[in-house]
Amino acid sequence: MERRTLGQDGPEIPVVGLGTWQVLDVGPDEAPFRHRVVDAALAAGANLFDSSPMYGRAEQVLADAVRDRRDEAFVATKVWTPDAAEGLAQIDRSMEWFGGRVDCFQVHNLVGWRLHLPRLHELRDQGRIGVIGATHYSDAAFDELAMLMRSGQIGMIQIPYNPRERTVEKEILPLAQELGLGVLVMRPFGEGSLLANPPHPETLEPFHEFGVKTWPQILLKWALSDPRVTAVIPATSVPDRMTANAKAGSAPWFGPRERRMVAQLAG
Ligand SMILES: NC(=O)c1ccc[n+]([C@@H]2O[C@H](COP(=O)([O-])OP(=O)(O)OC[C@H]3O[C@@H](n4cnc5c(N)ncnc54)[C@H](OP(=O)(O)O)[C@@H]3O)[C@@H](O)[C@H]2O)c1
Repeated sequence: MERRTLGQDGPEIPVVGLGTWQVLDVGPDEAPFRHRVVDAALAAGANLFDSSPMYGRAEQVLADAVRDRRDEAFVATKVWTPDAAEGLAQIDRSMEWFGGRVDCFQVHNLVGWRLHLPRLHELRDQGRIGVIGATHYSDAAFDELAMLMRSGQIGMIQIPYNPRERTVEKEILPLAQELGLGVLVMRPFGEGSLLANPPHPETLEPFHEFGVKTWPQILLKWALSDPRVTAVIPATSVPDRMTANAKAGSAPWFGPRERRMVAQLAG
């Protein structure tokens, strides 16, 4: 598994991780089974986990899954509220759940970022947060995201990027590169929509020499072959799929020709 630095002077993280939206939002009966996806990620060297208070029980289930091996996990979570006091409470709660340190703390969907950043900076200065960032899923918010990026207050962003969602190529990815910001890619499979009608296996043969055979792996490699991307965080509730997804995280990377072919196949 290749590792890249999450922004200038940032920590090294694996290029493939696990998104926990829906995947870890489960009750106590189901949680031990979902812990196996976390086990599979750690075993594959894909020890990057993205969560949020927006994902119901996912953040707590993740905390339980990594409690006894906290040092092995790179945890990226979020604060998500327009209320300053609730923001402080969410941040405190995450700190407690993850053993007093969160490796990457993001402002979810830019909600209340002006309120939350001072506390996040304070904790970063105390060494309790590694990198501070912001996320948004919608093109309509990219002007505001770009403004925050330029302000120098964050070290990374999380944005959607797949062959059918490429708006970030216009301004956000070039800006991230110019400013030396880390980039986590959400929705690499378009929330699964890109996997609904996969191309015929024969059409995927040209990609075998790049170490990827399946359509999900090819989509992950498509995103990671853009050097401005630090890592992808596909979500899966199936341990074997986590293991397979992690295999997309090694060189050789696609060139422009292969990326064009993937985009054509994705339609
Ligand atoms: N900040 C934001 O606004 C925001 C918004 C959306 C997402 N995110 C983050 O980004 C993460 C990923 O995005 P996403 O969850 O929306 O969608 P995604 O990763 O694009 O797609 C997830 C879907 O792909 C399926 N899948 C994964 N690996 C597979 C494989 N190898 N073979 C077949 N199917 C596979 C999963 O089903 P199975 O579970 O059945 O495998 C799931 O239905 C989220 O979990 C979250 O952490 C952030």
